[in-house]
Amino acid sequence: LLADSLYIINNFAREYFTKTLLETEEGQNIGLSYFEERGFTKETIQKFQLGYCSNERDAFARTALEKGYNLDYLQKTGLVTIRNEQPADNYRGRVIFPIHNQSGKVLGFGARILVKNDRAPKYINSPENEIYVKSKVLYGTYFARHAIDRLNECLLVEGYTDVISLHQAGIENVVASSGTSLTVDQLRLVKKYTNNLTILYDGDSAGVKAALRGLDMAVEEGLNVKLVLIPDKEDPDSYVQKIGAPAFRQFVETNKQDFVLFKLQTSMQDIGNDSNRKSQLVNEIAETISKIDKVEDFTRQQDYIRQCSQLLKIDEQGMITLVNKFIR
Ligand code: GTP
Ligand code: MN
Ligand code: MN
Ligand code: MN
Ligand code: MN
Repeated sequence: LLADSLYIINNFAREYFTKTLLETEEGQNIGLSYFEERGFTKETIQKFQLGYCSNERDAFARTALEKGYNLDYLQKTGLVTIRNEQPADNYRGRVIFPIHNQSGKVLGFGARILVKNDRAPKYINSPENEIYVKSKVLYGTYFARHAIDRLNECLLVEGYTDVISLHQAGIENVVASSGTSLTVDQLRLVKKYTNNLTILYDGDSAGVKAALRGLDMAVEEGLNVKLVLIPDKEDPDSYVQKIGAPAFRQFVETNKQDFVLFKLQTSMQDIGNDSNRKSQLVNEIAETISKIDKVEDFTRQQDYIRQCSQLLKIDEQGMITLVNKFIR
């Protein structure tokens, strides 16, 4: 089967890249020093099966082809590309982050350039294929699922390195959207483990706006969404490394805010005194509140109605009527 072949190739590549990282001079001098400079320990590097792809033109491709792996399949995984009519490595000179499914099989890779420049993308991610469907994957689920279960909460961050640094700091209930806006399939994946989703995004990021757009979807899926804004110029990785694990935990607990109320407050600041836009906002909020399951979560819906009416300075009964209009 094609899917099986892709898994087998990815697994071979994962092993090859970790060997290159740990056992070759180039891997140690370049890849390993890079990870160490970022503060990743040996244990962390091993746990996440991080790797390095040599800067040689086709070190991986040659080895894989010699071992008998099929060129078409190698191309499908995105590991190998054809350059000047010859097979060549796609992740040359990059550090490698394998992307696992819930049971630990490798679906694909993120490959980071060592030094950012504007000629090449910072990350190259695997192309979509029979086993890697971006919209259905959250990076880190394999490592996070037990902690999510135990703590009944899932933290969501933007990047691979955020997940890794938080794990190293002992915060293990964390997955990453890998820079894309949340999809309904990803929300359902979270829902398999918990109803409580806490989004940790940089305050300045477009990611927050994208997440806000997904809010109704999340509420509709029955998720209770909280938000923590990470200070300007930081992300969870840089911030936890800067202030340390205990302070970071404290920061998250202190700054956790309800996402529906956050949306309401930021929108109110945007709107000012414009009464048309205000009544539009009242409608939007009522619609969001209406998506909360009235049967399962009646108290939560009532709380939102009360809190939002107060913030909007409108009559609570009016809000109830409006919310009910959206429920059929
Ligand atoms: P570092 O710079 O290594 O700390 O990574 P980061 O995770 O902080 O990166 P950033 O916040 O810029 O982006 C968040 C996530 O978006 C990354 O982890 C990647 O999954 C994805 N991403 C970032 N840059 C690129 C890119 O150039 N191409 C693609 N396809 N994805 C990217
Ligand atoms: Mn950012
Ligand atoms: Mn970003
Ligand atoms: Mn970062
Ligand atoms: Mn980041």
